[in-house]
Amino acid sequence: MLTVGCLQPISGQEIMAGPPAQNTPGKAPPIPMAALLAQPRTKSQAGLTKMLIEAAIPPDNSPTPDKIELGFKLFFDGRLSADGTVACATCHDPGRAFTDGRPASIGINGRVGQRNSPTILNALFNETQFWDGRARTLEDQAAIPIVNPLEMGNPTIEAAVANLSQDEEYRRAFLSTFGRPINGPDLMRALAAYERTLVSFDSPFDQFVAGDQNAINDSAKRGWEIFNSKGRCNKCHALSETQRDTTTHSRDFIAFCVAITSSLSAFVRLSSRVRRKSR
Ligand code: HEC
Ligand code: HEC
Repeated sequence: MLTVGCLQPISGQEIMAGPPAQNTPGKAPPIPMAALLAQPRTKSQAGLTKMLIEAAIPPDNSPTPDKIELGFKLFFDGRLSADGTVACATCHDPGRAFTDGRPASIGINGRVGQRNSPTILNALFNETQFWDGRARTLEDQAAIPIVNPLEMGNPTIEAAVANLSQDEEYRRAFLSTFGRPINGPDLMRALAAYERTLVSFDSPFDQFVAGDQNAINDSAKRGWEIFNSKGRCNKCHALSETQRDTTTHSRDFIAFCVAITSSLSAFVRLSSRVRRKSR
């Protein structure tokens, strides 16, 4: 058993070790299960203030429980793809920290893309999305894989909307969540609202950086030393250009935890904005 996210026990089965299984040519990989690891995480976690998450939520997409649940369902639903075989989770598998563990992602009809899928954990803090930053928000981003011919393969967003509209449950859920029939922008809002619940905090490492010396073992502590010294990992995975080893900047530990998983100088700006607000 392992404890992740909101301190719920997670079974080892859900966490996929090793490289992904070889894929059947011409077919998309199977859609992973939406088990416990996929659940929205709690906002009250060590190393992360509620305020910090709230600062990353756009005012026109408040995350109501209904909306998050709808986004959760959509994220794992193959009907978002042209032939029903590919879900967002195909390439962002909770069992692999919301990646697919492949050198390049595989989409509809087994088509292989050109890039690997980044985790979407903490993507709410990214100032831009994609490796090249070509999408601004999670809402803007979500529309792109749906119509990418190598990914979900729909000719248009309207085609995906028409597909979902055949399902009475979706029709009802969109109507009660947004007060109108299914449409592209609301579809992206629901997906983005779910994604903003996926934060990776509250790990033993977060507890350690937050000040609990006993939260990680000696081996991990030695690794952390190397990370910040001769490993030189902190040259790129650190808080900012001028604050590299954040162990001496305890006030900034929250930002550090995020910076470690992605290159997020933008996050530093976000967190300092929050600090300014909270003063
Ligand atoms: C076929 C695989 C595939 C599918 C399906 C897919 N993605 Fe992705 N996703 C990727 C790849 C590959 C990238 C990086 C591409 C790039 O940077 O050009 C990516 C990037 C992202 C990012 C940016 C994260 C970051 O750190 O920059 C987000 C967010 C995301 N996807 C969410 C989604 C959502 C939501 C869906 C469903 C609507 C989805 N993805 C469907 C493969 C996929
Ligand atoms: C010169 C800058 C640089 C240095 C030094 C560096 N990294 Fe990275 N690292 C990156 C970049 C850029 C990426 C993302 C690129 C990619 O995945 O294609 C990355 C990705 C990663 C990832 C994957 C993160 C994810 O979310 O997929 C890990 C883990 C990682 N680095 C750990 C380390 C460790 C450990 C060290 C020290 C031994 C280190 N890095 C040193 C720049 C650097």
